[in-house]
Formats: sequence, C-alpha cells, structure tokens
Amino acid sequence: MDPKRRAAEGALSFLEGARIVGMGTGSTVMELVGLLEPDDRVYVASSAETALALARRGFRVAHPSTVRSMDVYVDGADEVDGNLDMIKGRGGALTMEKLLASHSKSRVFIVDESKLVSALGERGGVPVEVLPEAIGMVEGRLEEMGLRYSERTCQGKRGPLASDTRGYLLDVEVPRGADPRELDARIRSIAGVVETGFFLGIADVVVVGYPDRTRLLTRGREATRDGGKRRGRPACARAAAS
Ligand code: 5RP
Repeated sequence: MDPKRRAAEGALSFLEGARIVGMGTGSTVMELVGLLEPDDRVYVASSAETALALARRGFRVAHPSTVRSMDVYVDGADEVDGNLDMIKGRGGALTMEKLLASHSKSRVFIVDESKLVSALGERGGVPVEVLPEAIGMVEGRLEEMGLRYSERTCQGKRGPLASDTRGYLLDVEVPRGADPRELDARIRSIAGVVETGFFLGIADVVVVGYPDRTRLLTRGREATRDGGKRRGRPACARAAAS
C-alpha cells in the first residue's frame, strides 16, 4: 500500500471522539480526506485546497476565525528529525498550519518514511512567510546574517508566490550543524517575518507510513501497527535511525 495512505489510515483512530478537527495541507492530508466517512464533526482547514476538498466531500468546514480551539490537528510534514521536530511549509501553508496546530489540544502528523531525517534542513530550506511590504528588508537582514535564501515562485503567475495568508515565501537554507531553535529565533527576530516553517516541540504523535506497516512515534515511546508494540525506547533515537 502507498505509505502516505497507510500513514493517513493510522491517523483515523486519533479522530475518534473529536468534535472540532484542524486539518493541514498536502498530499498526505488529501489521502486522509479521501478516507474520512461522512460525520458531524466540524473541520477547520489550513488552506483553500483542504477547505475545498472537505467541502466538496460534504463535510462541515468552519472558518478559522469562528473557533476557539480544536480537539485535534492532523497534518503532514516535510522533514521530521529524531526529536520529532519538523520542517513544514513546502506546500506554502505554514502560517495557518502553525496557527491551527498551536490552538489544538493534540497534534498528529502523518508522513511517509522518506520524511525522516537526521538533521532538519537536510532536504531543503526552511520556508519563511514574509509580509509582502517587508520582502526587501527581510532579504537584506537575512543577507547580513549570512543566510542564503530563494524566493518561492509559482507556475501560471509571474513574481513571488503569495500564500493563502497573502505573505510572500522565502526558503532559507539551514546551515550545516545549525541549531534549529537558535536559527528559528534569529529569523523570527526580523521585523516583517510572519512565521517560519520550523515546528519545534509541536508534534505529539508522528504516524510514519511504510509500504507494509505504520510506526507511531511519540516523545516517550513507539508502537508499530504490524502487530508488535515496543515501549520504553525513546522515539527520538529511532526516528532518525530508520
Ligand atoms: C504544506 C505542508 C505539508 O504538510 C508538507 O509539505 C507535506 O506535504 P505532503 O503530504 O504533500 O508530502 O507543510 O505547507
């Protein structure tokens, strides 16, 4: 089975009992949308893509401004390290994703095994959303800090890509050996930066899909869904090792 679909299946049990569900963005989340059965939950989407997909399948979608919090948030990720810290936002939805994740009682991330890394930034830069008016000033500060970046552009439109929250997106290279927390703080200290794609200490559970099984990674323990269950060994050691 497709590992993304398997990871999405692994998230279903975390939705049990949830009334208000935050939904992330991306192809793995789309697998989950396809698996959901009609229900009376309220969904809050992190992007237009997800909101439309849910609405078209007949689910109730609430505008984020109308809810106080969500029971559970489910999303994909671009990179997951051994501490369950993540880079997100390569689909451009990082600001809404962090907002919804931060206001949810629990947070579940669904990834295929290719997303596990030993160090964040291994597969690409960290997405950074910037106030459009600030793009030049932010780029200037990044250069002063010695950080390399590229502007995100898209097909079918010239110039910078604007996110659903209307910010421009930069992908900032993560220098080899950089401490994600320190780098995150430096980037966020620049006026005009709206949000970064570093999701540090946010994941409660990461469901990793493989062709033949899933693994549940939490900070304290791990369980497999091929029948076996392992406890007591820090998930952080295992995620990077796979
Ligand atoms: C979008 C995201 C996505 O969660 C991330 O890009 C993973 O996407 P996919 O499930 O398609 O691999 O952060 O902004």
